Amino acid sequence: NPLEITDKDEMRNWSRSMRAQGRTIGLVPTMGYLHEGHLSLIQESHKQTHLTVVSIYVNPGQFSPNEDLSTYPSDFLGDIQKLKSVPGGVDVIFRPRNLYDYGNKDDGVGGGVGRDQEGGKVVSCVEKSGMEHETWVRVERLEKGLCGKSRPVFFRGVATVVTKLFNIVEPDVAVFGKKDYQQWRIIQRMVRDLDFGIKVIGSELVRDDDGLAKSSRNVRLSPDDRQNALSISKSLFKAKFAAENGQIDCQELRNAVIQAVHEAGGKIDYAEIVDQESLEKLEEFKRPAVFCVAAWFGNVRLIDNIEINV
Ligand code: PAJ
Repeated sequence: NPLEITDKDEMRNWSRSMRAQGRTIGLVPTMGYLHEGHLSLIQESHKQTHLTVVSIYVNPGQFSPNEDLSTYPSDFLGDIQKLKSVPGGVDVIFRPRNLYDYGNKDDGVGGGVGRDQEGGKVVSCVEKSGMEHETWVRVERLEKGLCGKSRPVFFRGVATVVTKLFNIVEPDVAVFGKKDYQQWRIIQRMVRDLDFGIKVIGSELVRDDDGLAKSSRNVRLSPDDRQNALSISKSLFKAKFAAENGQIDCQELRNAVIQAVHEAGGKIDYAEIVDQESLEKLEEFKRPAVFCVAAWFGNVRLIDNIEINV
């Protein structure tokens, strides 16, 4: 059975004692409400290391006050069952209570509902709550486009909490899903730029049988929206097929996806074709590309992407 650890120091001590015995450690960071996408990352970790730590922490630092922190789904008992039955198991479930609690008096999590902007300054739930944290990691160029446009504190919060997890768990390898393509590239870049001695793995996107990219947020879709949301993956598959059969104009492919999602009742946040590494926009397929989409169905924001190698 996996060890359950909530304390930062206990987590670090466990890792250090394992590494002292010559064992390598893989870290799979998650926000819980686990599904097969998360479990596939654990399989990837097993291929790389002796031991695997799964962290479960809904990070208030990456939500702005008007986002869905308070409605983010959670089911810790269900998560433990899944982690117990995953082939090869996991060694530690690291479930910190509050990663921004440094022993101050004011350590409430969340911060409730508020506005995104405070006097022109963009704030996250951590800042809103008055927790005493002021150090943020930014990957300045990569964090700007795609999801960064509509979620201005998101990647700063992700890079910062992943840094904290790296410093607490001290893993040899960390596994991220290509479902969150920009997140994976940002963490890869951060690890390179800041000399973390950690190997970052990007693991393939896992879909439901009908094509919908698996996501913890999918449970919040109404049955109709769940069906309509298939327009995202269906139109992405079509775009990939078209590109691989000679369509090189990115604008036309983008328009087709935007129209399909729109006709299904979705609201497009972005539909961009970008370079797989630099995430710079492409007009034509010249280099390995990834077609990234974010769209709202009801009050749920979904993201999906597909790699296109022409
Ligand atoms: P979360 O959304 O729980 O995702 C945890 C990891 O699972 C991420 O690396 C994500 O890319 C991966 N994942 C999610 N759905 C997937 C799918 N359908 N196929 C493959 N991988 C999938 O991403 C986060 O949490 C947070 O931002 C975190 C990195 C934990 C920092 O707070």
